Amino acid sequence: MQTYTLIAPAKINLYLEIIGTRPDGYHELAMVLQSVDLADQIAVRANGTDEIRIHCDHPQVPLDKSNLAYRAAQLMAEQFPDSFENFGGADITIHKHIPVAAGLAGGSTDAAAVLVGLDLMWELGLTSTELQELGGRLGSDVPFCIAGGTALATGRGDALSPLPDLTHLYVVLAKYRSLEVSTAWAYQTFRQQFSNTYVSDVNTLENRRQRVHSGPMVNAIAHRDGAKIGQLLHNDLERVVLPAYPQVSRLRQTFEQQPVLGAMMSGSGPTVFAVAESQAQAQQVKEAVKAAVPDPDLELWVAKLISTGIQLASPIK
Ligand code: C5P
Repeated sequence: MQTYTLIAPAKINLYLEIIGTRPDGYHELAMVLQSVDLADQIAVRANGTDEIRIHCDHPQVPLDKSNLAYRAAQLMAEQFPDSFENFGGADITIHKHIPVAAGLAGGSTDAAAVLVGLDLMWELGLTSTELQELGGRLGSDVPFCIAGGTALATGRGDALSPLPDLTHLYVVLAKYRSLEVSTAWAYQTFRQQFSNTYVSDVNTLENRRQRVHSGPMVNAIAHRDGAKIGQLLHNDLERVVLPAYPQVSRLRQTFEQQPVLGAMMSGSGPTVFAVAESQAQAQQVKEAVKAAVPDPDLELWVAKLISTGIQLASPIK
């Protein structure tokens, strides 16, 4: 039986604006999402049983239903019962490289890879739009993780418009290994503190969405202007996460003192990243930050911005 091995890239947010609240209880967002080549590897293989089994040697990754990758397989089995019956269950092996609870959509991208992998293995021939629709039922970031690249995301974060690629740029990512931030906590805390600023009427909401579509960040991306993009980095969630985690705030400051195009926290954190115009510059910044923060708990990576989402690595017999 064939094993399908998929590359599942992490995402960073170049822009995250919280516009208001939605009838479904989620937040109305305007974001620019970007794939980077820090990636997990997911192997999907039919196991000849009627079970979905998750394998992962990372201690923080659950192997049960609380793993979004498991729920992705379960969703596919529910949606395509005939294929599930024909092909049977699957062994899903996650080789984790993306840090967990880091604001890098690690769990979402693994789930996205499972959807793509089962689509291939079960020969369903689903379109990217159909896969993204299924992904949206699992989590707000899953549709983007399927498509990847650079995209403007509105609504819950699942209404995507592709943007020109930024594959000439690099990032340095840094995360304290022992620090985790819950996305739900970050949004809840933001709601408690700033809901008085939320936009609720339909016209103003649409206005704000349009403002981002034709705004300076999208313009800077259209011109592939790294310096401008660096200046325009924005993340509303920093307003609640940085005060609660002063260590992350200090790390961000350390990045800003380096020769970088800009620095920010990704998503709900606690990963901090800096944009660099070359791999050599990114490497230098990584070494400089490592020297400035000599804490063994701090992990650093250099990654390239990429134009792809979930990719098949190689089908192995
Ligand atoms: O969609 P996902 O399950 O990844 O979202 C995690 C949590 O983040 C949600 O439970 C919600 O609290 C918050 N969230 C939000 N508005 C969004 C996306 C996420 O409030 N648009």
